[in-house]
Amino acid sequence: MLIIKDLEVKAEDKVIIKNFNLEINTGEIHVLMGRNGTGKSTICKAILKHPDYQIVKGSISFLGKDLKDLDTTMISRLGIFLLSQNPVEVQGITNAEVLRNALSEKNNERVDIFKFNKRLNEVCEMINLPKSFVHRDVNFNMSGGEKKKNELLHLFMLEPKLIILDEINSGLDVDAIKTVGLALRKYYEIYKPAILIVTHHADILEYFDDYKVHVMDKGEITLSGDKSLAQTILTTGFGASAVAEDLENE
Ligand SMILES: Nc1ncnc2c1ncn2[C@@H]1O[C@H](COP(=O)(O)OP(=O)(O)OP(=O)(O)O)[C@@H](O)[C@H]1O
Ligand SMILES: [Mg+2]
Repeated sequence: MLIIKDLEVKAEDKVIIKNFNLEINTGEIHVLMGRNGTGKSTICKAILKHPDYQIVKGSISFLGKDLKDLDTTMISRLGIFLLSQNPVEVQGITNAEVLRNALSEKNNERVDIFKFNKRLNEVCEMINLPKSFVHRDVNFNMSGGEKKKNELLHLFMLEPKLIILDEINSGLDVDAIKTVGLALRKYYEIYKPAILIVTHHADILEYFDDYKVHVMDKGEITLSGDKSLAQTILTTGFGASAVAEDLENE
């Protein structure tokens, strides 16, 4: 579904990502871990063609389409959703306005307002977001945790095929992590999307049975493994024991 080959990404003339290879198929969950500043958020944003980042080498394709000549809007229309580490505030446009327009473009038809409102209410209930948020400006004046939930409202309404979650769990309180984890698991069971999870913590991973784990170091994936690798890292750290040894052997 998503194939990233030999990618090199620069920002302000500095190489941030290099030799980056990753393949994610439908229904697969991949977890990206790594020390602060190793390029995890950069790779997420580069997939969506964030204007701060230039792809200088390599390729990204999604569902057989090369993303080279596509802009962010076109890429998201293909079905990729990024829940970013720091969601952007958009003052003056409400969630309902954005979502109604986005859905009518996505499905190429006028949105049935009754169905739309019904679904909005269902999703708000599912993620425990007050219904009043529907009429609030996108992420504007929301707390860190509220922004993450507000982004999830968009995710569940737009029904993407590839979900990129860049530290969804940071900023969420313990109850919110449970609500969000259960909602994501439900989404996964119904739609079987591909998911890329960037995380420093195990809490969100507890809601998924199986996943692959990749460790990034200085802009590239240096180690990949099964879910036990996440456990090793979370108990011993990136610098200790088996992880460091493997990283050095690479
Ligand atoms: N727009 C930019 N311009 C210049 N440098 C940038 C830019 N964005 C990121 N960087 C640099 O690239 C490196 C990787 O940043 P990135 O945000 O991808 O790290 P990360 O792995 O997501 O870290 P964290 O775990 O702290 O979220 C950092 O050194 C950062 O300072
Ligand atoms: Mg980051």
